[in-house]
Amino acid sequence: MSRHLETRCIHGDQAFSYQEATRAVSFPIYQTATFGHVGLGKSSGFDYTREKNPTRQHLEETMSALEGACDTVAFSSGMAAVSACFELFQPGDHIICSEDLYGGVIRLLRTIGQKNGLTASCVDTSDLNAIRAALRPETRALYIETPSNPMMNVTDLRACAALAKEHSLLLIVDNTFLSPYLQNPISLGADIVIHSGSKFISGHNDTISGFVCSATHELGDRIRLIAKTTGGVLAPFDCWLVLRGLKTLAVRMERQQENAMQVAAWLKEQPGIAQVFYAGLPEHPGYGVNQAQSRGAGSMISFRTDSVETAHRILEKVRLITFAESLGGTESLITYPMTQTHPDVPKDMREHLGITETLLRLSVGLEHAEDIIADLAQALEA
Ligand SMILES: Cc1ncc(COP(=O)(O)O)c(C=O)c1O
Repeated sequence: MSRHLETRCIHGDQAFSYQEATRAVSFPIYQTATFGHVGLGKSSGFDYTREKNPTRQHLEETMSALEGACDTVAFSSGMAAVSACFELFQPGDHIICSEDLYGGVIRLLRTIGQKNGLTASCVDTSDLNAIRAALRPETRALYIETPSNPMMNVTDLRACAALAKEHSLLLIVDNTFLSPYLQNPISLGADIVIHSGSKFISGHNDTISGFVCSATHELGDRIRLIAKTTGGVLAPFDCWLVLRGLKTLAVRMERQQENAMQVAAWLKEQPGIAQVFYAGLPEHPGYGVNQAQSRGAGSMISFRTDSVETAHRILEKVRLITFAESLGGTESLITYPMTQTHPDVPKDMREHLGITETLLRLSVGLEHAEDIIADLAQALEA
């Protein structure tokens, strides 16, 4: 029987392929650039840290166990992971992606992706007909975030997997917002899962990292070759920090989600708040699909204020919650997507998506829900 997710966060799913000789309970940081050769043409299995390092391998195997992947590569950031993934494609290839994506991925597609001859169509992937309409003979992949950043739109991953199979496309899912504790896209038919490990996975707002988890050995080998060749892999100490964070992923996700439910329910009732976007609210248009493909809605909430003044007042007056980029950690953070995460998205597209001056994004942390609500209440007061 496969172990429960809580256990896999700490121990993986089975014996790790490298057994540490001293049986140290906290896996050691192998802070070495290189490894001595056992003999001529003989290797210990580790030669050079860019290619392979025991601490990184331990983390990668833990992530594979959590995502149900054949192989995982740990990168130096979420963007390094996304960039490595785009190296799978050739000039002339076309990708269909969610129109509401982390702004850094849109910037990557519009700059380096374009220079490398990739084209992308950004569509509302919660609408299968929109995906079908964007298909071209040269389409090679669907790239999805669900719930999306920052509008929390939900895409049906099983339906996308069926469509991807029908048209021989890769289905790539950025699972950062829910983490492997709440959603496992590979079990729903995805080929590749991406994470910014800087968020829920490490969980303490102290490390930058990224992951590419592959559903097949063939894809895993291709990603590993790209990682070894381009070199943006995660350093041993950062691997250890992420391993430490991962051990508490289950309990953090449970509590953060509980807090988020309370905060979302409270926000909905406030006169200064015009709309709340949270996939855990039954009135959210993607509620049913999210329920059917995940184990929860996580702790990311976006909301629209009644005026620009109210939005600015909240950002300036919050005291417990930090006005900062990023998400998923122990500390609650509030973000202004228009200027912080999505400034490189063209203005007309931002307006079409609803990323305007009145939209705020809240990452609900591990403080007591009543304290988070009290902070928002005092910030809302005129
Ligand atoms: C959904 C999502 N994917 C990818 C990234 C990029 O990750 P990183 O900041 O670790 O490079 C982010 C960053 O905010 C994100 O929110």
